[in-house]
Formats: sequence, structure tokens, C-alpha cells
Amino acid sequence: MPGEYKKCRDVEGRFEALVPRLEGPVLAVADEKVLRLHPHVHRALARKNITLVALKAGERVKSLRTLERLTRRALTLPRKLTLLAIGGGTIGDVATVFAHTFKRGVGRLIHVPTTLLAAVDSSVGGKGAVNVAGTKNVLGVFHAADEAWLCAEVFTTLSESQRREGRIEAWKMVVTLDAKRWARWTKAAPSDDELVRASRELKHAVVAKDPYETKGLRVVLNFGHTLGHAIESISRYRVRHGEAVGLGMLFALDVGVELGVTSRAVAESVERSLPLARGARAQLAQWLKNRAALKQVMRADKKGGMILLRRPGRWVMNEGLPW
Ligand SMILES: NC(=O)c1ccc[n+]([C@@H]2O[C@H](COP(=O)([O-])OP(=O)(O)OC[C@H]3O[C@@H](n4cnc5c(N)ncnc54)[C@H](O)[C@@H]3O)[C@@H](O)[C@H]2O)c1
Repeated sequence: MPGEYKKCRDVEGRFEALVPRLEGPVLAVADEKVLRLHPHVHRALARKNITLVALKAGERVKSLRTLERLTRRALTLPRKLTLLAIGGGTIGDVATVFAHTFKRGVGRLIHVPTTLLAAVDSSVGGKGAVNVAGTKNVLGVFHAADEAWLCAEVFTTLSESQRREGRIEAWKMVVTLDAKRWARWTKAAPSDDELVRASRELKHAVVAKDPYETKGLRVVLNFGHTLGHAIESISRYRVRHGEAVGLGMLFALDVGVELGVTSRAVAESVERSLPLARGARAQLAQWLKNRAALKQVMRADKKGGMILLRRPGRWVMNEGLPW
């Protein structure tokens, strides 16, 4: 079955060294900013005569309109094509939906994550989705990628705040799933390379046990996402995904303390360890003033509950939402 669960193969190397591995018809869907910042990516695709669709990244690209645009462009290509998704999480998410639905599923899907967030999180696990009517990820698929190309040279153009977003998602993985590594990282901060390897390994392990989210195990990956998604939505995506998840993790710690699930000492040490932006607490307080709007979005969200932390490495799913 196209997109059926399999562990995706992680391949490291420079982009132009990996392109010659491609065989048969290929459609590349790429973030136009990445093409601009990294002309070697564009050149490598052109050298192999690969059909290229350049898209502007951001939540708006995760839309039915983009799916139609990609479909029109690919109409004459065969079903068995290889889809190369080059970009951050937004390009990866919409490309995954396209991979699953184009002529009922393409031959191969390869992710080339270009943000740290995509490398640590969104390019692992096979989920793809688009946003409809202001609701994030409401139409989506599971479609496992065959490969992920980790091309370190493309990460050199990321800003500090873009890096922080990826680090936040990586710490989310470690704090919920790996107490030993969390303790180690609190003593010596990991390099971004280490973050990528560790969080991919942790996420792969969870996804392998619950690839289609039927066993209630994958939900742990939503730590911080219930409020995070709601903040993204009501800010009309001005607050970026990683930043919103950081605020959502603070909120989940607070709710945990309130419900007696998380001790104050655990909440404080976890909060200190997270690579949050300065002023995150004040920002959270500001957003929580919009309780009615947040509540409405959280109700429409498919998660239907919140992940709370007992201590690093131990989590619980709390059915229902606060308020
Ligand atoms: N499918 C999943 O499992 C999963 C998991 C986590 C997050 N997500 C989704 O991922 C999305 C967020 O991902 P993102 O933060 O990568 O978003 P993004 O794709 O919008 O990228 C963020 C910004 O970085 C720019 N960019 C990309 N690569 C760059 C580079 N190498 N140098 C400089 N700038 C670069 C983009 O042009 C964009 O402006 C959200 O939509 C979120 O819902 C999905």
C-alpha cells in the first residue's frame, strides 16, 4: 500500500551528492526561499531535469488550493513518481497529503527537511495535513516517507529563533520520553546535530509502536500542542509553531500542577530546562486573556485532551480540556 508504515531511512550528505540516487520520474516540491538561499539545490534539480514546483512556505501553503495547484502541475506524470519535498514542516505537510492522494498514492516520498523543526519532528512519522476554515491540520493523512535526506548545509541559513523552534520540539520529545537523556542535557546542552539524531530516534520508536495513532501511544507527541495549536490559530499563525508549542508546554505544566499530576518541583525544573524565548511566561499570560477564543479552537481540535507530565519520561493523557 502506498505510504504504508515503514521506518524511513535517514540519509546524510550534501544535497547535490544525493540527487543522482533518484531514478524514474521525479516531482520536486520546494520552499522558494530555500531555492533562493541555496542555489546548489536548484542547480542539482535542473541538472537532472526534475520537474519543480516552488512554493512560499508558511501555514497558508497547507491548503486545498496548494493540493489543486500541485495536481494540475503533475497531471501528466505517472502515479509511480518519486516526490521530493524540500522545505520545512509546512512544505513537508502539504507534500505528504499530495503524496498520499495523487493518483491514490505516489511511488516514493522523500523528505528533505530544511528547518531544524522539520528535521527533528515533522519529517518523521508519516503525518501530513492541510488547514481548512482556520482549523489547523483538520484534513490529513498517514503516509510514511521512504527516506529523509539530512543535508546539514541547508541549516546554515536558519536564524536563532528558527533554531529555537526546532530545539523546543526536540526537548518536548526528550522531556516526555527519555528521562536519562533529559537529565544529561540539563547538565550539558546538546549540539543541534545531537538534537536531530536523538529526537528522530525517539520519535521513530514511538511511531513504530503506534503508526496510525490507534493505540493511544502517539498522543505523547502532542505535549504542548493543545494550547499551542490554539495560539497559532487565534494569532492567525503570527506565532510560529515551535514558539506556540513552547508556550503550550508551559501551560501543560501549569495544568499538571493544578490537577496534582505534576509536582511544583518537577514543573519548575522542566521549565528551566526548556529553550524558550525570553518573556515566554509573560506571552503566555497575555494569550490566556483570550480564553473564550482559545477554548473554541481547542474544542474543534481533534486531540480532545491534554498530555500532562508526571515527571520527565512519564506522561499521562488527561481526557477533556481545562476550563
Ligand atoms: N507532520 C508532523 O508530524 C508535524 C510535526 C511538527 C510540526 N508540523 C508542522 O510543521 C509546520 C512548522 O514547520 P516549520 O517551522 O519548518 O515551518 P515552515 O515550513 O513555514 O518554515 C519556517 C520558515 O523557515 C523558512 N525556511 C525553511 N528552510 C529554511 C532554511 N534552510 N534557511 C532559512 N529559512 C528557511 C521558511 O521559508 C519559513 O519562512 C507547522 O505547520 C506544523 O503544524 C508537522
